[in-house]
Amino acid sequence: MPEIDEKKLIKKALSAMENAYVPYSGFPVGACAVTTDGEEITGSNIENASYGLTVCAERVSLFKAYSEGKRDIIALAVAANVNEPVSPCGACRQVISELAPEATVYLTNKDGSKVKKMTVEELLPYGFKL
Ligand code: THU
Repeated sequence: MPEIDEKKLIKKALSAMENAYVPYSGFPVGACAVTTDGEEITGSNIENASYGLTVCAERVSLFKAYSEGKRDIIALAVAANVNEPVSPCGACRQVISELAPEATVYLTNKDGSKVKKMTVEELLPYGFKL
């Protein structure tokens, strides 16, 4: 298992926020998933005038990764423009628990100064499975 460069990963999630499309909420979120090969796949939240069609940054990064055949996700960082580490929504927790069950999750704030590091099981205990 490769070492995770935590600072670099968090920086990537922070810079992914720059590509957020957030005309409705003004709340940019950035994410970066890392594979066993050290590949980094970023995501940002993409909103829509039909609000429910919005996709969160975490899901964008994981869907991008999977759709490119990159499935061995060992880490996922999430950043938002908030003072305390961002708390992923329930829908994203469910998706993370299925698509990146082994990942170490890094949740951070607006400048990466505060980081919560956790397992997926800690993020979503007793998640739904088929
Ligand atoms: N959002 C995310 O991107 N990730 C989360 O885990 C929580 C919420 C986005 C969705 C929406 O574009 C904005 O934040 C405000 O809810």
